[in-house]
Amino acid sequence: MSTPAPYRVLFVCLGNICRSPAAEIIFNAVVAEAGLSVLVRADSCGTASYHTGSKPDHRMLAALERAGYRYGGHRARTFRRADFTDFDLIIPQDEQNESDILALARNGEDAAKVRGMWRWFAAEETERSVPDPYYGGPAGFDSVVALLTRSMQRLVAELAEKLPQ
Ligand code: 4NP
Repeated sequence: MSTPAPYRVLFVCLGNICRSPAAEIIFNAVVAEAGLSVLVRADSCGTASYHTGSKPDHRMLAALERAGYRYGGHRARTFRRADFTDFDLIIPQDEQNESDILALARNGEDAAKVRGMWRWFAAEETERSVPDPYYGGPAGFDSVVALLTRSMQRLVAELAEKLPQ
């Protein structure tokens, strides 16, 4: 039997140095724990290009390390239209990222792939964004990691239901 093509997930934020690389790292860890690594592939990118080629922000890497996650070597890149073809699910971290990506959609099929991270927030979380920690202190980075960790369990459980086992 041939292995099915992996389901491809792309996390998007503004700079691709804080929230979306954290989302990618946490998603990969939760996917590995669920034993689904061969069935899914993740990547991340930003809607803006000013950090292209950079490693994630050192404050985000420190917060990820405090929570027990390991950085796998990602370098920032910018969202491109071809990502609509190359990915099955595109997850903006806030509503500005969502509208910036939707503005690039070529058709309804592209647009239907875009689903905000908040769709997997717990019901008691009223925000519709992963807050941008860039201009704040270390606690903001820790709370992004915690919010993404809680949400990623729900996202991966949803994917586990629909992926062939
Ligand atoms: P990110 O955070 O979108 O979560 O990667 C930011 C990174 C850089 C900037 C803003 C937010 N910036 O203004 O350079």
